Amino acid sequence: MWELWTLLLLTVAYFLWPKIRRPGAKYPRSLPALPLVGSLPFLPRHGHLHANLFKLQEKYGPIFSFRLGTKNTVIVGQHQLAREVLIKKGKEFSGRPYVVTLDILSNNQKGIAFADYSPHWQLHRKLVQATFALFKDGNQRLEKIICQEVSSLCDFLATQNGKSMDLDFPVFLAVTNIICMVCFNSSYKYGDHEVKIIHDYNKGILDTLGRDELVDIFPWLMIFPSKTLGLMKKCVNIRNELLNKILQKYKEKFSSNSITNLLDILIQAKLNSSNSSSGPDQDSKLLSDKYILATVGDIFGAGVETTTSVMKWTVAFLLHNPQLKKKIQEEIDQNVGLRHTPTISDRNRLVLLEATIREVLRIRPVAPLLIPHKATSDSSIGEFAIDKGTRVIINLWALHHNEKEWLQPDQFMPERFLDPTGSQLISPTLSYLPFGAGPRSCVGESLARQELFLSMAWMLQRFDLEVPEDGQLPSLEGDPKVVFLIKPFKVKIKVRQAWREAQAESSA
Ligand code: HEM
Ligand SMILES: *[C@@H]1O[C@H](CO)[C@@H](O)[C@H](O)[C@H]1NC(C)=O
Repeated sequence: MWELWTLLLLTVAYFLWPKIRRPGAKYPRSLPALPLVGSLPFLPRHGHLHANLFKLQEKYGPIFSFRLGTKNTVIVGQHQLAREVLIKKGKEFSGRPYVVTLDILSNNQKGIAFADYSPHWQLHRKLVQATFALFKDGNQRLEKIICQEVSSLCDFLATQNGKSMDLDFPVFLAVTNIICMVCFNSSYKYGDHEVKIIHDYNKGILDTLGRDELVDIFPWLMIFPSKTLGLMKKCVNIRNELLNKILQKYKEKFSSNSITNLLDILIQAKLNSSNSSSGPDQDSKLLSDKYILATVGDIFGAGVETTTSVMKWTVAFLLHNPQLKKKIQEEIDQNVGLRHTPTISDRNRLVLLEATIREVLRIRPVAPLLIPHKATSDSSIGEFAIDKGTRVIINLWALHHNEKEWLQPDQFMPERFLDPTGSQLISPTLSYLPFGAGPRSCVGESLARQELFLSMAWMLQRFDLEVPEDGQLPSLEGDPKVVFLIKPFKVKIKVRQAWREAQAESSA
């Protein structure tokens, strides 16, 4: 019996072992690997994956590899090598590997974030960038849209004066509305049923999209029904139905004469490509409803939970650092005052606030391992050969916590982004890429940075954010899902005395 098992294992191993590698080439050092399960038994299973991989660098160096199932994965944890992957050889590493759960979310790798290097990824990424260009100035200026939503958020918070609350839903609503304006010029009000549905399915998707799901490592486990996978499919279906309803309704009022948002751009691009008599109408297929929905879904997915999470992290760090909060408020009082609300042009004056946001993005990156990349051709990183199809994971956590690059990397110190006089923003090291870089970099970076700055500036101008009466400080440990979330916490909302006085004065 024992011999039979060995024979079976060896046979399977023979078929699953990687194809002959390039002879004479030097590959990154690998963790031990067994047939079938690969390196799984040698990977720490407790704690945060990004931190565990960072720890493995002590033994294996800044670039190493392991095998999961039949796939080779390379981990890069140092900024020179990371920049080589993302920027210098950006094109060779801009693929995305197949991941079962992400494949369900993206309806077979459609959309942008989880799409492999392909014509539809290029087309849709370009169209999203064209959409943001529409919001550069004029009546539709992004800043105006953000301020409108942040203003509603603050008005709501004012009704909660003296209470302790979880900021999650109000912030989620504001950020969702900004994305809705960009996607289809609409927004939700408090109590709208639909926004509750979005909030619920988002939570379902985040909860089930764990990186540690076994099906992601062993795709053939798909044949076994998994409870989480079922829940996830359910949430994705609810999302698809809701977005589809919006799309179908929107098509009726679409007009080529007024192209003002993402849906307009996508629908118009489809019309253009079906009408063009010259050339293959390749693009038309890549702009079918399914593709359009996947891209809109992506912008919601990538645009809402990320920004919402960073805002909550920022508030949490301010609760832990009340002196810093006070200093930021003084900065706002001196540079903006209390008669005007902050604008984007205040950004180069509110440097301590800006440094604080940068520090939050360093110490708790939204995507500590970015989104997995894949080599689109045989290539190399540093002195090491990388075969086509290899998954390449950039450990941003390692870049942001490297002791050679950062003084006391585990300490929250916004001053590290300021010059010694505290009046100029600086970049202390190149080991910092919160939005990635190169062909796969975040398309929403500019929007996100404006949202973070304006919402924090408006909130701190008007409110004191304080620890609730029970003295419970937020846990800063975090909960790494597709987004590095913070565990739920409460904050006490108090309208600032100085704000009240300024309001009374200006209305007198
Ligand atoms: C603080 C907020 C945000 C952070 C820190 C962030 C960060 C990132 C990171 C690290 C990546 C992956 C880069 C890579 O794989 O190499 C990414 C990708 C992406 N982000 Fe963001 N993001 C944020 C907000 C947004 C917003 C508001 C949007 C859209 C409105 C957005 C849209 C996207 C998209 C579409 C991708 C996929 C790009 C591609 O694969 O070609 N993100 N983001
Ligand atoms: C957006 O919608 C509002 C009202 O729903 C409308 O007044 C406005 O003209 C629309 N904006 C654009 C640019 O279509």
